[in-house]
Amino acid sequence: MMTKKKVRIGMIGYKFMGKAHSHAYRDLPFFFDTEIEPVLQTLVGRDENAVRLAAEKLGWLSYETDWRRLLERDDIDVIDIGTPNSSHAEIAIAAVKAGKHVLCEKPLAMSALQAKEMWKAAEQSGVVHMICHNYRFSPAVQFAKKLIQEGVLGDIYHFRAQYLQDWIMDPEFPLVWRMRKEVTGSGTLGDLMAHSIDLSRFLVGEITEVSGLMETFIKTRPVGEMSGGLGAEASGDDRAEVDVDDAAAALARFENGAVGVFEATRFAKGNRNGNRIEINGSKGSVRWTMDQMNTLELYLEDDPIGMQGFRSINCTEVAHPYAGAYWPAGHPIGYEHTFINLMHEFMRGISGKGSSPSPTFEDGYRNQVVLDAIEQSATTGAKVSIKY
Ligand SMILES: NC(=O)c1ccc[n+]([C@@H]2O[C@H](COP(=O)([O-])OP(=O)(O)OC[C@H]3O[C@@H](n4cnc5c(N)ncnc54)[C@H](O)[C@@H]3O)[C@@H](O)[C@H]2O)c1
Repeated sequence: MMTKKKVRIGMIGYKFMGKAHSHAYRDLPFFFDTEIEPVLQTLVGRDENAVRLAAEKLGWLSYETDWRRLLERDDIDVIDIGTPNSSHAEIAIAAVKAGKHVLCEKPLAMSALQAKEMWKAAEQSGVVHMICHNYRFSPAVQFAKKLIQEGVLGDIYHFRAQYLQDWIMDPEFPLVWRMRKEVTGSGTLGDLMAHSIDLSRFLVGEITEVSGLMETFIKTRPVGEMSGGLGAEASGDDRAEVDVDDAAAALARFENGAVGVFEATRFAKGNRNGNRIEINGSKGSVRWTMDQMNTLELYLEDDPIGMQGFRSINCTEVAHPYAGAYWPAGHPIGYEHTFINLMHEFMRGISGKGSSPSPTFEDGYRNQVVLDAIEQSATTGAKVSIKY
């Protein structure tokens, strides 16, 4: 039997993303023939009883109540950060300085300045670093990238993205960390539009200029806490002010001349996780939505007259990136598999020459520069040039 190199993970946070990441590490060797076996070594949480129960349920070998303990331990190779945004920088910088590889959830940081510090610290330490923009690891999105790279769509004119949710529309939905600026940085902008910006940079290229708009519809809410997934519970009778955006929009120009339109909101009734993109080029167009994540819609100008129209490609064939690792053609995969594909690249980076697979902390930084510029534009009303 081949002896696999064990990569021992220490993960901080065990609710929504903690569950997604735990599952991905566990399932990775099941689907991919890798030389590496991720070991769910230690789960970290501040509440001992809760973290012990979570470790048992999610399959971790041990737990800690202080993430700093992970830095001192020789039996931890990777630190995985699945905590709220304000904690990312402190943990990531300490982790890379301790020589640990790091996977960090998005958005990378609270500001571009902070994100740059994280990226530079990771580069200096020579560790493998990645940011968890999982949607680009859907086989259909990867296939769209291949088509664009091969010139099938021709010159790209438009990138259009909508990321629509509706989970906080009830005015009595508690004010959780995702709506507190000091913990989250921004609202829908950093939470949802960050993913759309990542898809745009992945598929079309760098953004050079943005105009932004942000709005908060519900100004105060009862104070509360996330209870897992996107659920929440009020902690008492106290109310507090919401100081982040409920909705955000942006216009953008890309380096290659394309124009971008972005919309993100948590107030689009009926849309639970409507993450959609459309790209229009001189020779064709593609459309993708998370609601039908295995499908890529493709229009090609070269199709015979009378037979032109969007076709639906079921991206479950061996020809579609990552799809061959799973089931026979026509047997779809889901949300969790985007994380498995991402973790596969992360492990390959660690097992290979040690280079960081994209999206790296540099991508996280560039994303954050765009987010900051949209926020600045929304505040001043003026267009903002992107400077890295
Ligand atoms: N990739 C994606 O699609 C995606 C989806 C959701 C969330 N996220 C990102 O993942 C991160 C976590 O979000 P979530 O939805 O899992 O949040 P969550 O509220 O469900 O879980 C956060 C976890 O962090 C723990 N925690 C909070 N502060 C901590 C601290 N100081 N030290 C140790 N543990 C701490 C909490 O106890 C909890 O276990 C955020 O950065 C968020 O933006 C990414």
